[in-house]
Amino acid sequence: MNKLLHLFANNRAWSENIRETDATFFELLAKQQTPEYLWIGCSDSRVPANEIVGLLPGDLFVHRNVSNLVVHTDMNCLSVIQFAVDVLRVKHIIVCGHYGCGGIHAALEEKPHGLIDNWLRNIRDIAIKYAYDLSLLDGSENRLDRLCELNVIDQVQNVANTTIVREAWERGQELTVHGWIYGIKDGLLRDLKVSNSGNADSDNVSSRSLRSV
Ligand code: CO
Repeated sequence: MNKLLHLFANNRAWSENIRETDATFFELLAKQQTPEYLWIGCSDSRVPANEIVGLLPGDLFVHRNVSNLVVHTDMNCLSVIQFAVDVLRVKHIIVCGHYGCGGIHAALEEKPHGLIDNWLRNIRDIAIKYAYDLSLLDGSENRLDRLCELNVIDQVQNVANTTIVREAWERGQELTVHGWIYGIKDGLLRDLKVSNSGNADSDNVSSRSLRSV
């Protein structure tokens, strides 16, 4: 017996629901996708990209990994960014972290977690980089939440520093990189105000804006 039949039933209901609203929705979508946004988020099941921002299939190009990291040697993530910027020509790249991120929490633990510790090493490095800022906060939960924010801010910088985004800005392509964080406890998004459009009008990712977040 297929224990996952309920998922297929859910899928049929979902498909019918959308077609009731727009009979040609899937037919048109099958021809092309023209999303304006690339979402780089955490794999956490509690942070479903499309649902959070109320967007339908076709509206959001998505890359998710543990703790929404953008690592300069990660060909998977870089390929997604390159396709989104060069082919789909998205106008916005949103790096979205979330409070209570299990990856961030695990990165600070001393006990080993296996292979993933190599991935989480990137977060430990961020914790070391901002050790002083974090030491000013009271309580481990506050420090963890702040590290979730600092991680997003660093990943926004990483996206902005890719050759893909730099070359897009050099040729005058309209493209803004944003840093957001999602609250699992209230279902709300917060803008960390570190947007970068590659020009002087951008919110600068500086020590000033770090303190004001
Ligand atoms: Co997470």
